[in-house]
Amino acid sequence: MAFNRTLITAALPYANGPVHIGHLAGVYVPADIYARYLRLKGQEVLFVGGSDEHGVPVTIRARKEGITTQQVVDRYHELIRRSFAEFGISYDIYSRTTSAIHHRFAADYFRAMYDAGQFVEETSEQFYDPETGHFLTDRNIRGECPRCHSLGAYGDQCEKCGATLSPDELINPYNAETGNALAKKATKHWYLPLDQYQTWLEDWILNHHKEWRPNVYGQCKSWLDGGLKPRAVTRDLDWGIPVPIEGAEGKVLYVWFDAPIGYISNTKELCDAQPEKYGPWEKWWKQPDTRMIHFIGKDNIVFHCIVFPAMLKAQGYNLPDNVPANEFLNLEGDKISTSRNWAVWLNEYLEDFPGKQDVLRYVLTANAPETKDNDFTWADFQARNNNELVAIYGNFINRALVLTGKYFGGEVPARGQLTDYDNQTVEEFKNVKATLEQLLDNFRFRDAQREAMNLARIGNKYLADTEPWKLAKTDMERTATVLHMALQIAANLAIAFEPFLPFSSEKLKGMLNLDHAIGWADLGRIDLLSAGHRLGQVSLLFEKIEDEAIRTQLERLERIKRENEETAKQEVLKNWRPEPIKDSTTIDEFDKMDIRVATVLECSNVKKSDRLLQFRLDDGMGGRTILSGIAQSYPNPSELVGKQVLFIANFPPRKMMGIESQGMILSAVDADGKLVVTTVSTPVKNGCPVG
Ligand code: 2FM
Ligand code: ZN
Repeated sequence: MAFNRTLITAALPYANGPVHIGHLAGVYVPADIYARYLRLKGQEVLFVGGSDEHGVPVTIRARKEGITTQQVVDRYHELIRRSFAEFGISYDIYSRTTSAIHHRFAADYFRAMYDAGQFVEETSEQFYDPETGHFLTDRNIRGECPRCHSLGAYGDQCEKCGATLSPDELINPYNAETGNALAKKATKHWYLPLDQYQTWLEDWILNHHKEWRPNVYGQCKSWLDGGLKPRAVTRDLDWGIPVPIEGAEGKVLYVWFDAPIGYISNTKELCDAQPEKYGPWEKWWKQPDTRMIHFIGKDNIVFHCIVFPAMLKAQGYNLPDNVPANEFLNLEGDKISTSRNWAVWLNEYLEDFPGKQDVLRYVLTANAPETKDNDFTWADFQARNNNELVAIYGNFINRALVLTGKYFGGEVPARGQLTDYDNQTVEEFKNVKATLEQLLDNFRFRDAQREAMNLARIGNKYLADTEPWKLAKTDMERTATVLHMALQIAANLAIAFEPFLPFSSEKLKGMLNLDHAIGWADLGRIDLLSAGHRLGQVSLLFEKIEDEAIRTQLERLERIKRENEETAKQEVLKNWRPEPIKDSTTIDEFDKMDIRVATVLECSNVKKSDRLLQFRLDDGMGGRTILSGIAQSYPNPSELVGKQVLFIANFPPRKMMGIESQGMILSAVDADGKLVVTTVSTPVKNGCPVG
């Protein structure tokens, strides 16, 4: 199929917080590079995005911040929209799923599928909170883990032992927010019968889209191999798009049903507003000569490759041609997390590094998690800026332009005969266009950007090898040729980097006073600037980033890490419940334990052990030594000296770290695992029994 235009979609971020570098590296930067690249080639492109304003994440945020859900989505939609615009994500439209157009469009979509008999209805028993009268999502249900018996496991997962759970498996499930015990109640929902699409999806993906990235293809295959099951597309919630049929009062469309429809409704919003520019929306969604590409993160693969295509197929829409999903980006070795504030937020970056959009774009693409999870570190950010953007690209441009100013009054000098070395240099980059296209067409943005930087390396080496600043003393004609060629490379760089570093290309074009008619098609030419052409104002293309700026960022992360550790501790304490009582025992069993009182005479750390404390006790019977594994809980062991403690006197002696321990000191285990030695509050004789 020959395609005449491309519709590019970028996953709609939840409006429950600002956008962070993980989102940018995974979705928005690659989508933007691709959109800019196709536009530069003169293709007809539509780049659609918007905020995902339904679903549980936004309602959780509202409760956390103590404001209404509408206020949450208004706040973050605006923040995200503004940051994207400032960062140069070149959407044709960035709208939102709470818009009236979207509500109507998504409801109509549901209705059309309902009328065509494309759903199955099913009533099932679901957990609800009898006091609030609300049904609960899996994440909002907590209880005792059936595997490791830790308390506070979620309805979908136990974070302690990692088990994947369903709410039905939890022991004593309760509402995470109210703490109320849950009951079950029958509720009706509508399901998308994915099982009916299984054969078609298998053929469409497994036979006809073998070119999809291995991570995407592999995930699809494993879903398909597991056998698809019907999926509920409605929910019992009070935030979302009301299910538009009778008998569905109090129910809304599942967020993953309405959000991808947002790509269509946002297209419609744009096309309806500017029909002469964009044509009718159907052109983008129903004409077979339109190609659709979804940019997403790996957690969205099943929805964009299986669920949404089934919905599109059902209603006769175009299907995606490719879904270049990325893996995840970590931050300083740790998973990025909105709830733990472990992220570099785009809005904060823009404030902390004004005018440095391209630096972040460059680093995120150089490190793009295209084939595996990658790590963002501030040290790497600084190094890539200082050693690559400044030292290679910026340095080359600066030398070429400053020297032209110095020797030729800012006019492109005429070139003379090219030497073998000049020709060899031209040879090295004449295929840059074909190479870049091959990579960009295959969504290999990281390699493509490296190729563009390679062109800057070629330029840098050319000047380092020819040394025009020395030549100028003896051979002005040769100097003219060298700078002429260097300026041609500079003009090529402005084009090659344009999809990746749009702000810098714009600036460089200004410095070169480059004709805007020059575009992608001209890449690789060595006659982009003619002799006598006057250059524009010269300034630095990139600036060094100092250690101080990086230190500030690292200190911020350190602070967040400390806060998170404290919150995690509080969380454990909050969810702590006493362990279940052990199986019953007898007084005879207890009587076998000889528990006595003793006064601590000495207490110190055992050398080479970070666990053991050594006690010297006055046990009223000549004294004894006991080792106890509580050093972590007592950074200052001498505080125990003089206290009366309880110990088991009739355990056989045991050697640890070469020291004989003659019994066991009794301690209480606190909720956070801290051990607290049990002491006697009213003095008694050492050696007294406990019973
Ligand atoms: O994972 C997410 O952040 C979702 N809000 C993505 C939705 S993409 C699309 F379907 F709208
Ligand atoms: Zn568990």
